[in-house]
Amino acid sequence: MPGKPKHVFAIMGSPRKGGNTDIMVDEILAGARDAGATTEKVMIGDIEIQPCKGCAACRTTGECVQKDDMKQMLEKLKDSHVWVIGTPVYWWGPTAQLKAFLDRFYAKADPERAREYFAGHRAVLAVPMGDPNPQTACHLVGMFQDALAFVKGELFASVLAPGAYEMGDVKKMENVLKQARQVGRDVVTT
Ligand SMILES: Cc1cc2nc3c(=O)[nH]c(=O)nc-3n(C[C@H](O)[C@H](O)[C@H](O)COP(=O)(O)O)c2cc1C
Repeated sequence: MPGKPKHVFAIMGSPRKGGNTDIMVDEILAGARDAGATTEKVMIGDIEIQPCKGCAACRTTGECVQKDDMKQMLEKLKDSHVWVIGTPVYWWGPTAQLKAFLDRFYAKADPERAREYFAGHRAVLAVPMGDPNPQTACHLVGMFQDALAFVKGELFASVLAPGAYEMGDVKKMENVLKQARQVGRDVVTT
């Protein structure tokens, strides 16, 4: 009997809906659906995520003092098998909105909670950037690689789109879209 389909949760971390990140995330999700997965995408601009205050209350309680949408996002992260994380390069890093989202992992980052919420998850990054040199994403990719490893997750693949600057530029990059679709399939089947 076939098992339950894998569920893929995507956070689209660009404020620009319908832009390059959004298009790449959609392509990865389409690949995952080709392979039988169920998918959900949340736009960072549609939710309220306050930046971490560094109060450390969560280190005792496991809960953030801020009452916003991150509690629900953490449950979505926990209840999915694969995460798609999309962000353009902004000043050699992710968008501020996505960094705030990542910082809020802190409430569940101790070993016991990390095991429940993050461990064993695979992530795929989708990253457009104006610069034609893909090395411009090296800090961003490195940050996610290390952060995911810290919570015992795994960066499965990064789909990069160097030279994608204007809205929708990535639509012209057939190789990027093809790779995104394939990575979406592979992350749920291999
Ligand atoms: C505030 C800001 C900072 C940016 N910084 C960089 C950068 O450091 N390197 C780069 O290659 N592109 C940079 N870009 C260009 C974006 O990465 C590029 O336009 C990308 O395609 C935007 O993705 P989106 O359409 O999903 O929003 C920046 C754009 C903005 C608005």
